[in-house]
Amino acid sequence: MKTLLEVKNIKVFYNQVILALRGVSLKVDEGSIVTLLGANGSGKSTTLKAISGLLSLENGRVAEGDIMFEQMSTLGKPTVSLAKSGICQVMEGREICKNLTVEENLKMGTLIGNVKRNERKEAYEVIYRYFPVLKERRNQTAGYLSGGEQQMLAIGRALMTKPKLLLLDEPSLGLAPLVAENVFEILKKINEEQGTTILVVEQNASLALSAASYAFILANGKVVMEGPTSSINTHDIRNVYLGAASTKDQAS
Ligand SMILES: Nc1ncnc2c1ncn2[C@@H]1O[C@H](COP(=O)(O)OP(=O)(O)OP(=O)(O)O)[C@@H](O)[C@H]1O
Ligand SMILES: [Mg+2]
Repeated sequence: MKTLLEVKNIKVFYNQVILALRGVSLKVDEGSIVTLLGANGSGKSTTLKAISGLLSLENGRVAEGDIMFEQMSTLGKPTVSLAKSGICQVMEGREICKNLTVEENLKMGTLIGNVKRNERKEAYEVIYRYFPVLKERRNQTAGYLSGGEQQMLAIGRALMTKPKLLLLDEPSLGLAPLVAENVFEILKKINEEQGTTILVVEQNASLALSAASYAFILANGKVVMEGPTSSINTHDIRNVYLGAASTKDQAS
């Protein structure tokens, strides 16, 4: 299978001094769903931000290593140009524009992505097919949507860029279990039907393991376990999390 994304041994610093990633390597095959798991503070969001180019907004920098997307280095490229090449991150904390309508939010996606003017109408219809509730609410102010609907809108907006690689940071955060399962079902469908490759960070390990085919587990800024999701169980992950917590305790 073709490798779409390869993160090669990256070290990331914030503010020149805080070492958040201590040499992270991972690969994502084209057309796959891969999950990145790990305890709080292990470096999951930092890894995604390094890939999507959002690190620079937080004074973060990839100091060593490289990130290859379709065999080209992405380092130093701004987020907007990475979005044009097909990398799009759904923001943590549902950063939709709450005072715009649902459809206006979706429109923002088309402004940075690859959708040509004459393809836009079809692009909305695709999103509305996956998320019928967004169609019902298309003219409503996004701030009045429920948490789950706002998350769907955030994913829909990212899809409006027609990404090759969709990055998601904790899509189940704050959602009721059934709603979270629903979001993952839709992600699986989008992966199957649109061929969108997905790299998803999750706290809910069992949900992510059931959707993904491959998993990487981070602890203290390094990958400590990886493999096909069929070979990883939540018990192993629990041990990694607890191990990470105890090394941190010893360090402090
Ligand atoms: N903007 C920032 N400035 C300084 N340090 C940061 C910044 N963002 C993250 N860090 C630090 O980098 C490390 C990794 O953080 P990161 O947010 O990537 O972890 P995470 O695995 O996403 O955690 P969580 O599960 O809590 O979201 C942590 O030690 C964190 O304190
Ligand atoms: Mg995070």
